[in-house]
Amino acid sequence: MSGQAVVQVEDLDVYYGTSQILFGVGLSVQQGETMALLGRNGAGKSTTMKAIMGLAPARRGKVTLRGRVVSGLKPHHIARAGLGCDCAHADGQSGAAVA
Ligand SMILES: Nc1ncnc2c1ncn2[C@@H]1O[C@H](COP(=O)(O)OP(=O)(O)O)[C@@H](O)[C@H]1O
Ligand SMILES: [Mg+2]
Repeated sequence: MSGQAVVQVEDLDVYYGTSQILFGVGLSVQQGETMALLGRNGAGKSTTMKAIMGLAPARRGKVTLRGRVVSGLKPHHIARAGLGCDCAHADGQSGAAVA
């Protein structure tokens, strides 16, 4: 891996109420790279995307966009920073894109 990641996720813990869903999730996406999250139903793929977009608040951890910390920002501020979520594919897939 070389250079600054476009999106970097470190040690994310996310809860819905008292249920912990994500346990220390980390990933790094480089410029020009496509990443797929794979896992059985209920594994936490959508929750990971929601946490990156600020729609599911992380209790611990950090999301950075080109080196700028965006975790903790409101979702519309994260979107304005250039991180978008396309969650409406007819085939059920969703994804994040950086502009
Ligand atoms: N809004 C919610 N409230 C409570 N639990 C939820 C909510 N959304 C998802 N979950 C639970 O979180 C876990 C992960 O779900 P999800 O992130 O949707 O998984 P995936 O996208 O990998 O199928 C599942 O156990 C699911 O039931
Ligand atoms: Mg899902």
